[in-house]
Amino acid sequence: MSSLICNYFIFSSNPFLFTDMSIKENEITLKKITAHCKEYGFIFGSSEIYDGLSASYDYGPNGVLLKNNISEFWWKSMVQMNENIVGLDASIFMHPKTWKASGHVDAFNDPLIDNKDSKKRYRADVLVEDHIAKIHLKINKEVIKARKQFGESFDETHFISTHPRVINYRNQIQSIENRMKTIIAENNLESFKKLIIDLKISDPVSGTKNWTDVRQFNLMFSTEIGSVSEDAHTIYLRPETAQGIFVNFSNIQKSSRMKPPFGIAQIGKAFRNEIIARQFIFRMREFEQMEMQFFVKPGEEMQWYEHWKLKRMRWHNALGLGPKKYRFHEHLNPAHYANAACDIEFEFPMGFKELEGIHSRTDFDLTAHEKLSGKKLRYFDPQENESYIPYVVETSIGLDRMFLALLSAAYQEEVLEDNSKRIVLKLPAALAPSKVAVLPLMNKDGLPEKAQEIFKELKFDITAQYDAKDAIGRRYRRQDAVGTPFCITVDHQSLKDDTVTIRERDSMKQKRIPKTDIQRILEENINLKGLLKSI
Ligand code: GAP
Repeated sequence: MSSLICNYFIFSSNPFLFTDMSIKENEITLKKITAHCKEYGFIFGSSEIYDGLSASYDYGPNGVLLKNNISEFWWKSMVQMNENIVGLDASIFMHPKTWKASGHVDAFNDPLIDNKDSKKRYRADVLVEDHIAKIHLKINKEVIKARKQFGESFDETHFISTHPRVINYRNQIQSIENRMKTIIAENNLESFKKLIIDLKISDPVSGTKNWTDVRQFNLMFSTEIGSVSEDAHTIYLRPETAQGIFVNFSNIQKSSRMKPPFGIAQIGKAFRNEIIARQFIFRMREFEQMEMQFFVKPGEEMQWYEHWKLKRMRWHNALGLGPKKYRFHEHLNPAHYANAACDIEFEFPMGFKELEGIHSRTDFDLTAHEKLSGKKLRYFDPQENESYIPYVVETSIGLDRMFLALLSAAYQEEVLEDNSKRIVLKLPAALAPSKVAVLPLMNKDGLPEKAQEIFKELKFDITAQYDAKDAIGRRYRRQDAVGTPFCITVDHQSLKDDTVTIRERDSMKQKRIPKTDIQRILEENINLKGLLKSI
C-alpha cells in the first residue's frame, strides 16, 4: 500500500511482523521458492545477462500460464459471474491532471533518509518499524525464557500483561507508534529525523548514526510526452489502475446502461518507484493489479463494504489453500478519503502480509475529478429525480502477490515411502500451468505415436504437455515440480486394448482407464466452474 493511503502499515503491534528470527528462518523458504521458480521456468530476474534489474522480474513459460490462469479466475469471478460488473482496459498513460485530482502528485510519497557514511537510502518509517520489531523480539525472548522456567503452568497472557520488563517494552512500542502516528498525520519530517535519532537507530550497513534529513520522495515514475523538448509534458506511469476506472465512470455507466450498485473491473500494470523493493515478487516497481470499483448510493457503502469483504474472502478460500492462511486486518486509521478499509493478509513465507485491500473510498475520487475536470461524474436517479455522486467500494489485489501466495502455499517437499524426495506444487488443478502431461512409457515400440495421437487431440481444449525424454519416474517428478495435476501414460497394454493409465499428482495414485474417458475425467477435474461455483 502506498503512502497516500498509508496509515495502516506502521502501527501494527503484531509481534509476528519483521522479527529478526522470522526473517532468517523464512527467507530460506522464499529463497527456495525463488530458485524453484527459476529452475522450472516460472520467473526469471529481469535482464539477467546484464546482471539484472532489481525488483523487476520476467514470467517464463510456466509462470505466464499460471499468471494468466489466476487473472482469468479473477476476471470471470467478477465480470462473467456478476451481471452488474463490467470490464475495462484503460491506458497506462493518463492526462497528468488525473494524478493531481487523485492526490498522487502531492501525497503519494515515502519518507526517505540517507546514511551519509554508507550512502544507503532507507524509508524512515521502515527503520522505525524494524526498531519496533527488535523490541518485539525482546518480548519474545522473555516469553521463551519464562515458558522454560514455568513449564506446563505457564500462562502467556498473564505473563505479558504483568511482567515489569515486558510491560516496559510494550510501553516503549506504544509510545513509538504514537509518535509515528502524529508525525505522519502532521507530515512533520523534522520530527521524523528526531525520532530516529532519539531511538538511536544506526545504519545496518555502516553502523553509524550519521543521517541526513528526512525528505518526501514521490513514488510515481514520470516521463516526457511530445516530440521536441519545448512542447514536452510530464506524464506519469499509473501507480494504480483505479483512476482509469474513475475517469471513465460516465462513459461506462451510460454506454452499458448501468445503475448503482454496479462495478467496473480492470486488470493491468501499475508502476511505483518503491525504494525498498524486496522479497522477490512481493514488492516490485512494475506489477499488475486486479481492481474493481463498485459504485453505490451514498449511505449504502458500509453494507457493500461488508459484502465485498466476505465475497473476496470466499474467492480466496475457493482455492483450497486453507482458511488459516488468511486473516483480515482492519485499518484503525483509514486514509482521509476512506471511511473504512481493511487488508486480506496472507501467510507468506515471511509472515502474514497484505495480499489484497478492500476500501470504502467514499465519493472522494469522483468528486475530485469532477472539480478539476469540470465534467459531471454523477448518476441521475430517475425514480428520485435527482443526481448524485456515487460512493465507491474498491477491491484491489496484486496479481504478482497472488501468484506468490499460491506458489508459496503450493510448494511442498515430500519424503516418499522409498525415502526419495519429491518437490510438488499442489496448485489448484484449474489454475495449474499445464493440466495434463501425456507420456509414452518408452520412446519406442509405437508408444510415442499413440501418445502423440492423444496429446494432439487434448490440446484443442486444454494446456497439455508431451514428454518422452528420460525414465518415466523422472518425468513424473518434473510434472510434479510444475504442478501438473494429471499424467496420462501410454504403455504396451494401451496398444492392445486402447486403455491408458492416469496418475493424480497429489496422491500419486494411478488408475487404468479407457482412452475414451480421458477427456471427461480431465474436464470434471480441471475446469474453473468448480471454483466459480464455490464463491
Ligand atoms: N487502488 C488501491 C491501491 O492501489 P494498494 O494497497 O496500494 O491500493 C493494492 O495496492 C494491492 O496491489 C496490494 O494489496 C498489493 O497486492 C498490490 N501491490 C501494491 N504495491 C505493490 C508492489 N510494489 N508490488 C507488488 N504488488 C503491489
